[in-house]
Amino acid sequence: MTQPARLYRSVLYIPASKERALEKAMSLPADAIIFDLEDAVAPDEKAQARLILDAALYDDFGHRARIVRVNALDTAWGRDDIAAFANHDRVDALLIPKVNSPADLEAVVALAPAKPLWAMMETAQAMLNAAAIAGHPALQGMVMGTNDLAKEIGSRFRADRLPMQAGLGLCLLAAKAYGKIIIDGVFNAFKDEQGLLAECEQGRDMGFDGKTVIHPAQVQIANAAFAPSEAELDLARRQIEAFEAAVGAGQGVAVLDGKIVENLHVVMAQRTLAKAEAIAAMAD
Ligand code: COA
Ligand code: MG
Repeated sequence: MTQPARLYRSVLYIPASKERALEKAMSLPADAIIFDLEDAVAPDEKAQARLILDAALYDDFGHRARIVRVNALDTAWGRDDIAAFANHDRVDALLIPKVNSPADLEAVVALAPAKPLWAMMETAQAMLNAAAIAGHPALQGMVMGTNDLAKEIGSRFRADRLPMQAGLGLCLLAAKAYGKIIIDGVFNAFKDEQGLLAECEQGRDMGFDGKTVIHPAQVQIANAAFAPSEAELDLARRQIEAFEAAVGAGQGVAVLDGKIVENLHVVMAQRTLAKAEAIAAMAD
């Protein structure tokens, strides 16, 4: 499946039951939205949330990817959630919670063959089956569910996320091996801007495409962290120039600022420039 040319720097969760938040989202610069029918919605609000969301999806969310997180199929609501959004023309993808293996995706494909699927990666089984899940043809993206994963494995919160590294790394490698999108987990302390920034930078440095966020105040921090900086853009341009000059002089490797520049660095530099262009195009 080819990837849509979209950005996922900030992926905002919105409880589908909260009309005010749904309305507010239209004015927020989030790259993508996860409309949540699962954990952010109380059991006795599930049916109503489905109706609110169905109507809200016809509002103008602009360029933002619209992803609906349904309840898992082994809950009382999963089947009805999938039935309600499997053919909804305003829904770009369905996000499936607690995916343990490709069989869990297969069960959803049988009910929603027309929608790309995203998987919540939030169980120990999922970490161990990450490659098989990433390789499923219906899968478009992965979202790290770090809160559920911590609950399951019994790890504690640490600012450096050392206990999460194995799971994050396995899922990241799996997604990259199959060319799928992968978004980092949420940062719960939504008033702690420094803490969020540090976690965004860690996820970005690892190779994540963006971060899931839970509050409007987190959107800009994620957008900035996952966008190339001016210094990175400047370096990318100079690397391309230096390499072209080296090739022109009959050499295969350039030296810039005391570091070698090979063809692979040029590919990475072009990727950085392309990302900046995509961000600029979206702002127009
Ligand atoms: N998306 C869009 N708008 C949101 C929002 C979200 N996720 N969270 C809050 N807002 C809006 C509020 O509606 C409010 O709008 P208003 O001032 O224009 O009326 C504004 O942002 C400020 O909200 P605030 O009062 O600071 O937050 P809160 O105390 O009402 O809610 C949370 C805090 C964490 C409960 C809320 O942000 C939330 O529900 N986040 C999503 C949680 C979620 O989806 N979890 C599942 C995945 S982990
Ligand atoms: Mg979860």
